[in-house]
Amino acid sequence: MESDASEAAWAALMELASRPGAAAIRPLFAADPDRFARYSRQAGDLLLDFSKTAISDDVLKALLALARARDMAGFRARLFAGAAVNETEGRAALHMALRAEAGDAFRAGSEDIMPEVLAVRARMEAFARAVHERRILTAKGERFTDVLNIGIGGSDLGPAMVARALWTEGAPLRGNYLANVDGHAFDEITARLDPARTLVLIASKTFTTQETMANAMLARDWLRAAVGEAGASAHMVALSTNLAATAAFGIAPERVFGFRDWVGGRFSLWSAIGLSLALTLGWDAFARLLAGARAMDQHFQVAALEENLPVLLALVEAWHVNGLGYPSRAVLPYDERLARFPAHLQQLEMESLGKRVALSGAPLTRASGAVVFGEPGTNAQHSFLQLLHQGTTPVPVDFILVARPDHAHADSHRKLLANGLAQAEALLAGKDAAAVTAEMRAAGVHEAEIARLLPHRIFPGDRPSVTILLPRLDAFTLGQLVALYEHKVATLGALWGLNPFDQYGVELGKQLAGAILPEISAGTAQPGAHDGSTSGLMGKIAALWPEGRG
Ligand code: F6P
Repeated sequence: MESDASEAAWAALMELASRPGAAAIRPLFAADPDRFARYSRQAGDLLLDFSKTAISDDVLKALLALARARDMAGFRARLFAGAAVNETEGRAALHMALRAEAGDAFRAGSEDIMPEVLAVRARMEAFARAVHERRILTAKGERFTDVLNIGIGGSDLGPAMVARALWTEGAPLRGNYLANVDGHAFDEITARLDPARTLVLIASKTFTTQETMANAMLARDWLRAAVGEAGASAHMVALSTNLAATAAFGIAPERVFGFRDWVGGRFSLWSAIGLSLALTLGWDAFARLLAGARAMDQHFQVAALEENLPVLLALVEAWHVNGLGYPSRAVLPYDERLARFPAHLQQLEMESLGKRVALSGAPLTRASGAVVFGEPGTNAQHSFLQLLHQGTTPVPVDFILVARPDHAHADSHRKLLANGLAQAEALLAGKDAAAVTAEMRAAGVHEAEIARLLPHRIFPGDRPSVTILLPRLDAFTLGQLVALYEHKVATLGALWGLNPFDQYGVELGKQLAGAILPEISAGTAQPGAHDGSTSGLMGKIAALWPEGRG
């Protein structure tokens, strides 16, 4: 049961949402020429513009009242104090400590965790620099040219997203990311690598994940075939909390970089899991990434709720999901370097907020996590934006714009920005019957044809979006951006009263895959063990791939 105060705050919000015209945005702009200034906030390098939403003064007041009723300040304080906010697993969520500096205080329960954080970070730096300065070499005494990071979920998506965003020619090493337990992926990636020049990082918090361990074993064989069994150990590194399992796999202790259970997988790119970034981008870039995230941590921790970017982003989402009943959201970065950012957010948000019960275990009485999807613009405009403009259910959008490019093609960048701004404007403004009619008449279209096409050419408008504007994309601003969304997720967890730090929902499939695997090997389903569809499909697969038994 929620407290009376938060029930009353939700009720007040829902009352505003039920008023006629509650979803309309255009009248708000018409009534207030200063709307952009009043509904945008700056924190560090990031500008958040949420003026293109149906949030009025009354709605914002109700949202902030909800945040207060949900004791957002208390939640923030407990999060940063290292309380066991991950209640189901009895753990703190202290990814902020991973980007903290000496002198910052972080404790998990009663333990001061900063000495260990700084010690692991120093070991990572020493290792990365030794590789760059060719003091750590391949088994054959040559320099490493490539890193192959083997991991999945949070042990892949965060680092792969950052590498895609920040890697440039001239960086110290090339980065390659293998996640899927699909031999095609393994073959594709190893075909372009020389094992004798590749450093393999096995990135797994648990060091038990089926996909990662299968790929790690294939990679170990691949290395051994090239540089021998003794040589292979010079090419392997483990990033894990499970030191017993890394030792059993044959990785020397000095090649293991650890972290602790208070780091969730989807929040782990700042930990040893980020070693691929330190190696491929250089230590200074990795340190700037951490510094950017730390700047956002400090903002989130101290800024008043009404000025607090992660809190405001979360409140906008609550308005859309709960108030207006919009169940999904698109993330459109207008920067090709952020191509993997939507994928990272999918795990961060959907693994965190895709929950159906409250912390108490009682079923949630209102909707929680939105479906998140996205692609870089302008590509997305030529695929799914049609539905966002004219589909039956509005899909709020996060536009991410970068003011200054890092290339010399200013005209391309002007076009990119023009498109991003135009899409947000089109979603808001729409195009009514009068405008469509006038345009078609001006083009000389016959009246009967205008009448026939009119409904198809109308855009309803009033479709909400927020825009996050970065001055440029670099390690420091990217750190701020990723941490903004991390804290948004934590805030939504507190607003909805669920645990954003566990992920029991991924377990059932893993268990069933473990049961099905021996049956695929045997070429036959256990009678009565599965539903008819699963058994039937197994039979078909066995017939189509008889040599798959083994
Ligand atoms: O899919 C569930 C999950 O536990 C994610 O939360 C995690 O990021 C991923 O698997 C990988 O886990 P690990 O790092 O332990 O291999």
